Amino acid sequence: MKAIELSIDLGSTKTSVHKVGSGLIVNDESRVVVETKNNGMTLIESGKGVEKYLKKPVQGYQVVNVVDGGAVTNERAAICMLKDYVSRCLPGNAIIKPRIKALASVSMGMSYADKKELEKIFSKAGIHDVTLIESPVSVAGALGFGKGHFIVDIGSSKTEIAIVGRDGIVSGCTVDIGGDKMTKSIADYMVMNMSSTISFSLAEKIKKDLGTLYENNNMSMRVNVRKVGNQRVESELVNSREIRAIIQPHVIDLLEIIYNMSFQIPDTLADDICQEGIVLCGGGANLSGLAEYISKFMKMKVVRADDPTTVVSRGGMYFLETNADFAKILNVINYK
Ligand SMILES: Nc1ncnc2c1ncn2[C@@H]1O[C@H](COP(=O)(O)OP(=O)(O)OP(=O)(O)O)[C@@H](O)[C@H]1O
Ligand SMILES: [Mg+2]
Repeated sequence: MKAIELSIDLGSTKTSVHKVGSGLIVNDESRVVVETKNNGMTLIESGKGVEKYLKKPVQGYQVVNVVDGGAVTNERAAICMLKDYVSRCLPGNAIIKPRIKALASVSMGMSYADKKELEKIFSKAGIHDVTLIESPVSVAGALGFGKGHFIVDIGSSKTEIAIVGRDGIVSGCTVDIGGDKMTKSIADYMVMNMSSTISFSLAEKIKKDLGTLYENNNMSMRVNVRKVGNQRVESELVNSREIRAIIQPHVIDLLEIIYNMSFQIPDTLADDICQEGIVLCGGGANLSGLAEYISKFMKMKVVRADDPTTVVSRGGMYFLETNADFAKILNVINYK
């Protein structure tokens, strides 16, 4: 039986899995509900289904966010989640379990120890053969590998900024600025300026609905908050101008790194990169006005990748489909 080939992006918020021959199979959250009994862990729910257990907790059930900052937080919960997501990619009627080969995209900043740990987790989840690849290389697979690219992947916990050339990463860095930081700053602002507390998920909603870098976009929304002190629930009006002021400093921090990285573009890739522009991906690329904001500062074309939250696993497919020479791309001798 032919091996099943999967390209996996295990993100801090979302996990996406593409299957060679089928396309996107999993685009779900990186969290689970588990029950631990007699030293064994059982999966109760994974992904989007976890929400209902947050609203109505069940005694003995534990909600686990499996990944944080690109690294696995709980090995056994990660194995439960991966087993479940991999099972969604298997044919329902298979008597003999097919061999599973996977390409897993990881952060450029992932330590050697965390990479080894991740390989062990994949193996325990039933994946027989796993290759780790730095995520900007995967994105380049979706954009057209073999050309120059300037990639900025803004996730929830971190941002990967890289120049990818004909054989892999030319220059790159991982910074711990991501969407979560912006969301937390919104929640902090509500406490400091409105004496109100809000949940992380409401702060996320405010960021997505009101967050914009366009200066003339002025929207507002009413949100239900809990007042600090008397604990009363009240309605407050929030507007996009205040949210922009909260988000902008984080964007400026990113801009500074993007600007410095631009000096690393080798002459041989300058033409490719100028033509294509800086490519934004990850959920953070959906922030309204971000591409225009970066473009204005960098005086360069800036575009958003198609389907920016699944482009990493989609791009990984290129390397599986072409039986890529990883020894060359990953810049290592005698790879495996
Ligand atoms: N419209 C939007 N405006 C602003 N931010 C958004 C929008 N849509 C999604 N995001 C943010 O994108 C982030 C999630 O992006 P993504 O799914 O790429 O993260 P991830 O890959 O799971 O995380 P990481 O790469 O850090 O491990 C969240 O912080 C989310 O709030
Ligand atoms: Mg990501």
